[in-house]
Amino acid sequence: MLSANQSADWVMHAEARAERVAARFREKFTGEPELWARAPGRVDLMGSHTDYNRGFVLTLPISRDTWIAARRRDDAKVRVHSMNLDDDDEFGLGDIAPISGSRWCNYVRGVAATLRNEGLALTGCDAVVHSTVPVEAGLSSSAALECALATVFEALGGWRLTPERKALLCQKAENEFVGVQCGILDQYSSCLGREGCALLLDCRDLSTRAVWIADGIRIVVCNTMSQRRLSGGEYAQRRAECERGAAILGVSALRDVTPEMLAAGRSELPERVAKRCEFIAAESARAESLAVALTEGDRPAVARLCAESFAGARDLYEICSPAMMDMMDAMLAAPGVIGARQAGAGFGGCMVALVDSTLTDTFRAAVLEAYRSTTQVVAEIYPVEAAPGAAVFDRGKIGG
Ligand code: GLA
Repeated sequence: MLSANQSADWVMHAEARAERVAARFREKFTGEPELWARAPGRVDLMGSHTDYNRGFVLTLPISRDTWIAARRRDDAKVRVHSMNLDDDDEFGLGDIAPISGSRWCNYVRGVAATLRNEGLALTGCDAVVHSTVPVEAGLSSSAALECALATVFEALGGWRLTPERKALLCQKAENEFVGVQCGILDQYSSCLGREGCALLLDCRDLSTRAVWIADGIRIVVCNTMSQRRLSGGEYAQRRAECERGAAILGVSALRDVTPEMLAAGRSELPERVAKRCEFIAAESARAESLAVALTEGDRPAVARLCAESFAGARDLYEICSPAMMDMMDAMLAAPGVIGARQAGAGFGGCMVALVDSTLTDTFRAAVLEAYRSTTQVVAEIYPVEAAPGAAVFDRGKIGG
C-alpha cells in the first residue's frame, strides 16, 4: 500500500498511528469510525512457489499490517480512502465493476463483489485504509488489504466466516476480479496468523500447523528496493511450466514428485521444465525441514536449508534478479546472520534473513552499508514479529 521509500516513516507507535488514521477519517468523512480491523502481510521463510504446486510453505504473518477504520452507511455505498496513496474510491454495492488503471481500488471492489456473490449481506461504509506493508515488495500488501476489508464487511454485516473461508474468498477476488493468478499462500497467511509463531501450510489439504521459532532467532526482512521485474508474466510462465511438468510426470501436482520419479522421467521433460520440477520437489521438502530446524534452534540446518533454497531459486527456478544477488551477499556477510534467502515471488522486492537476535542492529547496519556500497541504493531493513491473523480490534485497547 505504500511506495517502498515511504515505508520507514509509516511505522509508528500504534496509538499515534490510530490517531493519524482517525484524524484522516474525520477530515474525509466527518465524525468517528465505529470499527477498526487489521490484517498482516507475510514473509515466507521457506517454500517459494510451492503453493500452486500443492506443496508445503513455511510462512510468517508479520507485524507490518493494514488497518481499516470504518463506519457503516445506510445507502449501500462504499467510500474508501487510502492514506498511503492519497486516493479515493466510491462504488455502489448493487453493481460492482472493476475500474481501469487503478489496481488498489479493484482489490477493494473485488472483495465486495466476491462476498456479495456468495450471498453474504453487505453493509455500505466509509473507510480509511492505512498500511505499513510496503507495496509490490513481496510481502503481500494486496492480501493484507483484501483480508482487512473482508473483516470489515464481516463485522458490519453481523455474519462470521472461518479464517479459512475468508482466505479462500479473498483469493477468489484476486484471481477472478483483479485477474492475478496467485496461489493461496498470501491470503491464508493473512487470515490464519497466530501471535508468536510461524505456520507450516500444507497447500494440498489447506491445513496449517503452528511452528515455534526457537528463542534467539529473529526474522529480518531486507528490501532490495528494486521493482519486481516482469513478475506477472514470469509468474504465469512458472505456473505453466510446473503444470506441464506434472502432466508429463503423470501427477496431479508437483508436490507428489519424488527424486526417484524425477530421475526416471527426466528424459521426457524439456530441460527448463525439469529444472522447475527439481526445485519445487526439493523446496516443498525444505519447508517441512526448516519447520523442525527452527523449532529446535538448529542453526547449521537453518543455514544449509536457506542456502539450498537460494541456490535453487537462482539456478533452477530462475527468479533471482541482480539486486537479489547483491542483497544475498550483503546478508551473508553481515554479523549475526544464521541463514538468508529469497522471499515472495522473487524478481526483486524483499528477501529474508534469520538472525541472532542479540545482533539484529549490527546486522541491519552492516547490510545497509554493504548493499549501498555495491548498488548505491539505500535498502530498507525490517525486523518483524509473528502477528495474529485478520481481526477487528478495539482502538481503546491498543498499546505500545
Ligand atoms: C506470490 C503469490 C503466492 C506465491 C508466491 C511464491 O506471492 O501471490 O501465491 O505463489 O508468490 O511463493
